[in-house]
Amino acid sequence: MNRQRALVTGGAGFLGSHLCDALLADGYSVIAVDNLLTGNLSNFDHLRNDSRFEFQQIDINQPFDCGAVDYVFHFACPASPVDYTVHGIATLRVGSIGTFHALDIARKYGAKYFVSSTSECYGDPLQHPQKETYWGNVNPIGPRSVYDESKRFTEAVTMAYHRYYKVDTRIVRIFNTYGPRMQLNDGRVIPNFMKQALRGEDLTVYGDGGQTRSFCYVSDEIEGFLRLSKSAEHFPVNIGNPTEFTILECAKRVLALTGSSSKIRYEALPPDDPKLRCPDITKARTLLGWEPKTDLETGLRLSLDYFRKAAQV
Ligand SMILES: NC(=O)c1ccc[n+]([C@@H]2O[C@H](COP(=O)([O-])OP(=O)(O)OC[C@H]3O[C@@H](n4cnc5c(N)ncnc54)[C@H](O)[C@@H]3O)[C@@H](O)[C@H]2O)c1
Repeated sequence: MNRQRALVTGGAGFLGSHLCDALLADGYSVIAVDNLLTGNLSNFDHLRNDSRFEFQQIDINQPFDCGAVDYVFHFACPASPVDYTVHGIATLRVGSIGTFHALDIARKYGAKYFVSSTSECYGDPLQHPQKETYWGNVNPIGPRSVYDESKRFTEAVTMAYHRYYKVDTRIVRIFNTYGPRMQLNDGRVIPNFMKQALRGEDLTVYGDGGQTRSFCYVSDEIEGFLRLSKSAEHFPVNIGNPTEFTILECAKRVLALTGSSSKIRYEALPPDDPKLRCPDITKARTLLGWEPKTDLETGLRLSLDYFRKAAQV
C-alpha cells in the first residue's frame, strides 16, 4: 500500500479535485491547497470524513510550507478563457511566482514534482496534430498571452529546476478536458453548450463552427496523469483525446443528448482563437501505454446529471 503524502496545489479546482480522489484511491494521503479563486470547496464534500485528506486555504503566490511531502502536484492556475481574462495578472503570477514556490517545496523535501501545462503552449498551431516537439505559434502580447506565456514560463522554470537543482520533474500538456465539477460559466465549450441547452438558450458558436477541438473525459485524463507521475519522463507529454470534432458537431451532439430545442447562434471569432487543436498522443501511447477510452457521447452522458443540477442553480 502506498503511504506517501502528496501536495496538490489548485486542489479545489476541477482537475485538482479529481486528482485528489485518484491519489487517495492510489493510497496516498493528500493535502490540497487552494486560494479558491476559481475553485470550490463543494468539490471536497465527499471527502469530509476521510482522515487521509486535508485542505488548507493558501495563496501559493505567497511562500508556504505544509510540511514534508513525497510528491508535489502543481495544478493551481485559472484555466478557462473567462477566468484567465478576468484574472490576467493573477494567472501570470501563479505561473511564475507560484510555480517557484511549488518547485521550492519539492526541492526542500526531495519530493517528486508534476505540473499541469497546456495545449495552449502550441498557440494557433501551424503543425497538426501537435507533437511535443513542436514549439508552437503563440502571440506573446495578445489577450490570451496571460495564460499561454504563463504556462510556457511554468514549463521553462520546471525544466530549469530539473537541470540545475536535479528536481525529479514531470510536465503534462493537457488538452481540453471535461466532466463533472467544471464551472458552468467558465466559457469552455462543453459547459457552455450544456448550460445553454439545458436552460433552453441559444448555443453560441464562434465563427462558422468549423474550428476543431478534441475533448477528453476527465477519468481518462486523470489516468494519464497517474501513469505519467509514475514514469521517469521529464520532457512534456501530451495527454488528451485525439478524436477531433468541429465545434458545430459538438453543439449538435449536446442538443441531441439533452433533447433541447435550443437553436445555434453564430458570433464573431474571438482574437487568437486556435483554428485546429488536436494532440498527437504517440508519446503517451508508447511511453505510458495510455490512451483515452471514453468517447464523446459516453462522456457527455456521464456528465449530464452534474450539468443538469448545476444549470438549475
Ligand atoms: N481543464 C482543462 O481542460 C485544462 C486544459 C489545459 C490545462 N489545464 C491546467 O490544469 C490545471 C487545473 O485546471 P482546471 O481546469 O482544474 O481549472 P480550475 O480553475 O478548476 O482549477 C484551478 C485551481 O487553482 C486555484 N488557484 C488559482 N490561483 C491560485 C493561487 N495563487 N493559489 C492557490 N490556488 C490557486 C483555483 O482556485 C482553482 O481551484 C491548471 O493549471 C490548468 O492550466 C486544464
